[in-house]
Amino acid sequence: MLKISNLHAYYGKSHVLHGVDFDVQPGEIVALLGRNGSGRSTTAKAVMGLVHWEGQIDWKGQGLTGKKAYEVAHLGLGYVPESRDVFPNLTVHQNLLLGQKGKGRGSRWSFEDMYAMFPRLKERQHTEAGVMSGGEQQMLTLCRTLMGDPDLIIIDEPTEGLAPKIVELVGVYLKKIKERGVSVLLIEQKLTIAMSISDRALVMGHGRIVFDGTPQGLRADERVRKEWLEV
Ligand SMILES: Nc1ncnc2c1ncn2[C@@H]1O[C@H](COP(=O)(O)OP(=O)(O)OP(=O)(O)O)[C@@H](O)[C@H]1O
Ligand SMILES: [Mg+2]
Repeated sequence: MLKISNLHAYYGKSHVLHGVDFDVQPGEIVALLGRNGSGRSTTAKAVMGLVHWEGQIDWKGQGLTGKKAYEVAHLGLGYVPESRDVFPNLTVHQNLLLGQKGKGRGSRWSFEDMYAMFPRLKERQHTEAGVMSGGEQQMLTLCRTLMGDPDLIIIDEPTEGLAPKIVELVGVYLKKIKERGVSVLLIEQKLTIAMSISDRALVMGHGRIVFDGTPQGLRADERVRKEWLEV
């Protein structure tokens, strides 16, 4: 459903992706792993039209060349960036409202779904988003993206800076999202969460995919883990 072929990306003259190839199938959770600076966030930004890229990115058979971020989002691609992306002066509820894209058909997700998944957001629904903790803002960003009813969600390091117990919860939420038929491209550095919930694992190094296989295959491949993941 998402197919990336020979993807190159650039920040000005700096060439950071060097021919990335992978795909994400409907209903899959795919982990995109790699060390700092390997090009994972840039890959996400390329899909969303936020960085200059060349090559081929197809979404449901349609090329994304030249599409702006809002156009990509309207095609059903949800993006949760590394930086927590809430409207700080609006309440939790208002933030969720802004996530709705008003497609004129029933969304997979309702406010009740979000509040059932994250009771903490329900408690704080009338609180300004800006005063919540980093983890809460992360959850809100995820929920706001889901309110737009994406068919695939790209989520960049959702567990960064979260306590181990919350990290476990993030895994539970991502599985729930998959159960509703949403594909997930999970950008991560932590092997444990990626290994426990993913159908497939990709490893990136120096702007290329250096491993594409099952989590079990990655666990068994000590060479790839040593060379491209462990510090
Ligand atoms: N805005 C930018 N301008 C110039 N270079 C950038 C910019 N953002 C990233 N880079 C460079 O591009 C390369 C890939 O960065 P990217 O953010 O994709 O890595 P990453 O795998 O997401 O790692 P992490 O999030 O841990 O830093 C790095 O060498 C980085 O320094
Ligand atoms: Mg990154």
